[in-house]
Amino acid sequence: MEVKEAIEKRNSIRAYEDKPVPEDKLMRVLEAARLAPSGHNSQARKFVVVRDDERRQALGRATGGQYHVHTAPVIIAAVAMKPEELMPCGIPTSPVDLAISLDHMTLAAVEEGLGTCWIGAFSQEEVKRILQVPEELSVINLLTLGFPAEAGRPKNRKRLEDIICYETYK
Ligand SMILES: Cc1cc2nc3c(=O)[nH]c(=O)nc-3n(C[C@H](O)[C@H](O)[C@H](O)COP(=O)(O)O)c2cc1C
Repeated sequence: MEVKEAIEKRNSIRAYEDKPVPEDKLMRVLEAARLAPSGHNSQARKFVVVRDDERRQALGRATGGQYHVHTAPVIIAAVAMKPEELMPCGIPTSPVDLAISLDHMTLAAVEEGLGTCWIGAFSQEEVKRILQVPEELSVINLLTLGFPAEAGRPKNRKRLEDIICYETYK
Protein backbone atom coordinates (compact mmCIF):
# COMPACT_ATOMS: atom_id res chain seq x y z
CA MET A 1 0.00 0.00 0.00
CA GLU A 2 1.21 3.51 -0.82
CA VAL A 3 1.79 5.84 2.15
CA LYS A 4 -0.65 8.33 0.61
CA GLU A 5 -3.38 5.69 0.47
CA ALA A 6 -2.82 4.72 4.12
CA ILE A 7 -2.94 8.38 5.19
CA GLU A 8 -6.17 8.93 3.27
CA LYS A 9 -7.81 5.72 4.50
CA ARG A 10 -6.90 6.10 8.20
CA ASN A 11 -9.87 7.11 10.33
CA SER A 12 -10.51 6.95 14.01
CA ILE A 13 -12.32 3.63 14.46
CA ARG A 14 -14.69 3.51 17.38
CA ALA A 15 -16.37 0.14 16.72
CA TYR A 16 -14.49 -3.14 16.58
CA GLU A 17 -15.30 -6.69 15.57
CA ASP A 18 -15.24 -9.22 18.40
CA LYS A 19 -12.23 -10.95 16.88
CA PRO A 20 -8.60 -11.16 18.08
CA VAL A 21 -5.80 -9.43 16.19
CA PRO A 22 -3.50 -12.10 14.67
CA GLU A 23 0.00 -12.05 16.13
CA ASP A 24 1.74 -11.41 12.78
CA LYS A 25 -0.42 -8.34 12.12
CA LEU A 26 0.17 -7.02 15.63
CA MET A 27 3.92 -7.52 15.26
CA ARG A 28 3.99 -5.56 11.98
CA VAL A 29 2.11 -2.70 13.63
CA LEU A 30 4.54 -2.71 16.57
CA GLU A 31 7.51 -2.88 14.20
CA ALA A 32 6.34 0.42 12.69
CA ALA A 33 6.65 1.98 16.17
CA ARG A 34 10.11 0.50 16.63
CA LEU A 35 11.29 2.01 13.35
CA ALA A 36 9.91 5.48 14.12
CA PRO A 37 12.45 8.27 14.66
CA SER A 38 13.08 9.95 18.01
CA GLY A 39 15.09 12.92 19.23
CA HIS A 40 18.81 11.96 19.44
CA ASN A 41 17.58 8.50 18.50
CA SER A 42 17.11 8.05 22.23
CA GLN A 43 14.17 5.64 21.76
CA ALA A 44 13.09 6.35 25.32
CA ARG A 45 9.74 4.68 24.78
CA LYS A 46 7.92 1.54 25.73
CA PHE A 47 4.65 0.16 24.45
CA VAL A 48 2.45 -1.84 26.78
CA VAL A 49 0.26 -4.16 24.72
CA VAL A 50 -2.92 -5.06 26.58
CA ARG A 51 -5.13 -7.97 25.51
CA ASP A 52 -6.31 -9.28 28.86
CA ASP A 53 -10.06 -8.71 29.16
CA GLU A 54 -10.12 -7.53 32.76
CA ARG A 55 -7.27 -5.10 32.20
CA ARG A 56 -8.95 -3.74 29.05
CA GLN A 57 -12.16 -3.16 30.98
CA ALA A 58 -10.18 -1.34 33.68
CA LEU A 59 -8.55 0.82 31.00
CA GLY A 60 -11.98 1.50 29.52
CA ARG A 61 -13.13 2.81 32.89
CA ALA A 62 -9.97 4.94 33.15
CA THR A 63 -10.97 6.62 29.87
CA GLY A 64 -14.30 7.68 31.32
CA GLY A 65 -16.00 4.60 29.91
CA GLN A 66 -15.31 5.21 26.21
CA TYR A 67 -17.14 2.29 24.60
CA HIS A 68 -14.56 1.54 21.92
CA VAL A 69 -11.82 1.24 24.55
CA HIS A 70 -13.89 -1.43 26.31
CA THR A 71 -14.50 -3.33 23.07
CA ALA A 72 -11.17 -3.07 21.23
CA PRO A 73 -9.32 -6.42 21.40
CA VAL A 74 -5.96 -4.66 21.82
CA ILE A 75 -5.02 -1.46 23.62
CA ILE A 76 -1.49 -0.11 23.32
CA ALA A 77 -0.18 2.33 25.91
CA ALA A 78 2.68 4.55 24.75
CA VAL A 79 4.97 5.21 27.70
CA ALA A 80 7.62 7.94 27.80
CA MET A 81 10.70 6.87 29.73
CA LYS A 82 12.21 10.36 29.90
CA PRO A 83 9.15 12.57 30.21
CA GLU A 84 11.10 15.49 31.70
CA GLU A 85 13.49 15.92 28.76
CA LEU A 86 13.25 19.12 26.70
CA MET A 87 14.55 19.79 23.21
CA PRO A 88 16.79 22.87 22.79
CA CYS A 89 13.68 24.61 21.40
CA GLY A 90 12.05 24.29 24.82
CA ILE A 91 9.46 21.76 23.76
CA PRO A 92 9.18 18.39 25.58
CA THR A 93 10.71 15.61 23.50
CA SER A 94 8.61 12.67 24.65
CA PRO A 95 5.13 13.67 23.39
CA VAL A 96 6.68 14.35 19.98
CA ASP A 97 8.62 11.08 19.93
CA LEU A 98 5.69 9.01 21.10
CA ALA A 99 3.25 10.71 18.74
CA ILE A 100 5.45 9.76 15.79
CA SER A 101 5.51 6.13 16.93
CA LEU A 102 1.76 6.12 17.44
CA ASP A 103 1.14 7.65 14.05
CA HIS A 104 3.41 5.10 12.37
CA MET A 105 1.31 2.40 14.05
CA THR A 106 -1.98 3.91 12.89
CA LEU A 107 -0.76 3.87 9.28
CA ALA A 108 0.74 0.37 9.50
CA ALA A 109 -2.60 -0.78 10.93
CA VAL A 110 -4.43 0.47 7.83
CA GLU A 111 -2.18 -1.68 5.66
CA GLU A 112 -3.07 -4.68 7.87
CA GLY A 113 -6.81 -4.05 7.48
CA LEU A 114 -6.97 -2.93 11.12
CA GLY A 115 -8.47 0.16 12.70
CA THR A 116 -7.11 2.37 15.48
CA CYS A 117 -8.17 5.28 17.62
CA TRP A 118 -5.91 7.60 19.58
CA ILE A 119 -7.06 7.96 23.18
CA GLY A 120 -5.89 11.03 25.04
CA ALA A 121 -8.87 11.32 27.38
CA PHE A 122 -7.80 9.15 30.31
CA SER A 123 -6.74 9.40 33.91
CA GLN A 124 -2.93 9.34 33.99
CA GLU A 125 -2.95 8.11 37.56
CA GLU A 126 -5.45 5.29 36.92
CA VAL A 127 -3.78 4.04 33.73
CA LYS A 128 -0.36 4.00 35.41
CA ARG A 129 -1.80 2.01 38.29
CA ILE A 130 -3.54 -0.52 36.00
CA LEU A 131 -0.43 -1.05 33.89
CA GLN A 132 2.06 -0.81 36.78
CA VAL A 133 3.92 2.02 35.07
CA PRO A 134 6.54 3.56 37.43
CA GLU A 135 5.48 6.86 38.96
CA GLU A 136 8.22 8.94 37.29
CA LEU A 137 7.21 7.88 33.75
CA SER A 138 4.28 9.20 31.68
CA VAL A 139 1.67 7.52 29.54
CA ILE A 140 1.48 9.79 26.51
CA ASN A 141 -1.57 8.24 24.82
CA LEU A 142 -3.40 4.98 24.39
CA LEU A 143 -4.21 3.42 21.04
CA THR A 144 -7.07 1.02 20.43
CA LEU A 145 -6.51 -1.61 17.75
CA GLY A 146 -8.75 -4.17 16.12
CA PHE A 147 -10.72 -5.12 13.03
CA PRO A 148 -13.06 -2.22 12.19
CA ALA A 149 -16.78 -2.75 12.53
CA GLU A 150 -17.58 0.61 10.97
CA ALA A 151 -16.76 2.31 7.69
CA GLY A 152 -14.44 5.27 7.52
CA ARG A 153 -15.85 8.78 7.35
CA PRO A 154 -14.86 11.52 4.95
CA LYS A 155 -12.21 13.71 6.53
CA ASN A 156 -13.32 16.99 8.03
CA ARG A 157 -10.27 19.23 7.72
CA LYS A 158 -9.43 22.89 7.17
CA ARG A 159 -8.38 23.83 3.67
CA LEU A 160 -4.65 23.77 2.90
CA GLU A 161 -4.61 27.54 2.37
CA ASP A 162 -5.99 28.00 5.90
CA ILE A 163 -3.08 26.20 7.54
CA ILE A 164 -0.12 27.06 5.29
CA CYS A 165 1.69 30.37 5.01
CA TYR A 166 4.96 31.13 3.31
CA GLU A 167 8.16 32.76 4.58
CA THR A 168 6.66 34.38 7.68
CA TYR A 169 3.79 33.58 10.02
CA LYS A 170 0.55 35.14 8.89
C1 LIG B 1 -3.86 13.27 20.62
C2 LIG B 1 -5.22 12.72 20.29
C3 LIG B 1 -6.08 12.33 21.30
C4 LIG B 1 -7.35 11.78 21.00
N1 LIG B 1 -8.14 11.31 22.01
C5 LIG B 1 -9.30 10.70 21.69
C6 LIG B 1 -10.09 10.07 22.71
O1 LIG B 1 -9.78 10.09 23.88
N2 LIG B 1 -11.22 9.44 22.31
C7 LIG B 1 -11.62 9.36 21.00
O2 LIG B 1 -12.65 8.75 20.72
N3 LIG B 1 -10.88 9.94 20.02
C8 LIG B 1 -9.74 10.59 20.33
N4 LIG B 1 -8.97 11.12 19.34
C9 LIG B 1 -9.41 11.01 17.93
C10 LIG B 1 -9.80 12.37 17.33
O3 LIG B 1 -11.06 12.76 17.81
C11 LIG B 1 -9.79 12.22 15.80
O4 LIG B 1 -8.48 11.91 15.38
C12 LIG B 1 -10.25 13.47 15.07
O5 LIG B 1 -11.61 13.74 15.36
C13 LIG B 1 -10.11 13.34 13.55
O6 LIG B 1 -10.81 12.23 13.07
P1 LIG B 1 -10.08 11.03 12.31
O7 LIG B 1 -9.04 10.47 13.24
O8 LIG B 1 -11.15 10.03 12.01
O9 LIG B 1 -9.44 11.59 11.06
C14 LIG B 1 -7.74 11.68 19.64
C15 LIG B 1 -6.86 12.07 18.63
C16 LIG B 1 -5.61 12.56 18.94
C17 LIG B 1 -4.67 12.90 17.81
